[in-house]
Amino acid sequence: MDAAVLRTIGKPPRLEQFPEPIPGEGEVLVHVRAAALKPVEKQLASGTHYASPTELPVVCGVDGVGYLDDGTRVFFGGPRFPFGAMAERTVVARSRCFEIPEALDDATAAALANPGVSAWLTLTWRAKLAPGETVLVLGATGVTGKLAVEIAKLLGAGRVVAAGRNEQVLNTLREHGADATIRLDIPDLAEAYAREAGFNVVIDYLWGRPTEALLAAMTSPEFAVAGRETL
Ligand SMILES: NC(=O)c1ccc[n+]([C@@H]2O[C@H](COP(=O)([O-])OP(=O)(O)OC[C@H]3O[C@@H](n4cnc5c(N)ncnc54)[C@H](OP(=O)(O)O)[C@@H]3O)[C@@H](O)[C@H]2O)c1
Repeated sequence: MDAAVLRTIGKPPRLEQFPEPIPGEGEVLVHVRAAALKPVEKQLASGTHYASPTELPVVCGVDGVGYLDDGTRVFFGGPRFPFGAMAERTVVARSRCFEIPEALDDATAAALANPGVSAWLTLTWRAKLAPGETVLVLGATGVTGKLAVEIAKLLGAGRVVAAGRNEQVLNTLREHGADATIRLDIPDLAEAYAREAGFNVVIDYLWGRPTEALLAAMTSPEFAVAGRETL
């Protein structure tokens, strides 16, 4: 079958023939329709991810959308090594397949799950966002950041502040639920954070300078504290 095969860490994968996957106990064959290219695939292939492969070759792609032999259309995650989502067929545990609503097309469903679940879990499971709270999203102009802004609002956040360096995209985020935006490429970033002070939840997709400036703002005496666990 055709597959995106990685033979060398740090080099791009190539379209090659790869052996057919054969499902074992508790597994299913998936006829792949779509597989999204996300940061995690690039990190795995470049050797910078903690789960980067130590044995090669492998097929790239950690999740996607496809059909089971019985015709069920599913989102699937975690294909069995060395198989991957970027191939005509792959093999995964049946428990890692989830039926998709008809209204959602293959590409959207494949692209949405990883960043969407990541943003949703961060807000609900980790941050335990309560209605009315204020959320700051650092790196809000990326796929996951945009979803975090929208999901925070849907979960009842009182105020969502979106921070990013891409002004054009930043300006579109109010339509997705942002109440305020912060440009990350300005010299007085700590002051800009301080003006919006009172964050209950901070989601940081960036680290580096934007985070340094936030820490500087948080530790300044002028930084307002709005309540329990407020930054
Ligand atoms: N654990 C999980 O399951 C999970 C799931 C999804 C994502 N993630 C992680 O979340 C992060 C974002 O993923 P994504 O899919 O949203 O990626 P993405 O769509 O490529 O977005 C990355 C964002 O970061 C911004 N950015 C990069 N460097 C920056 C800098 N130095 N200063 C300011 N902004 C900067 C980019 O801004 P520009 O638009 O201006 O370039 C872009 O908006 C990645 O680290 C990814 O691995 C984790």
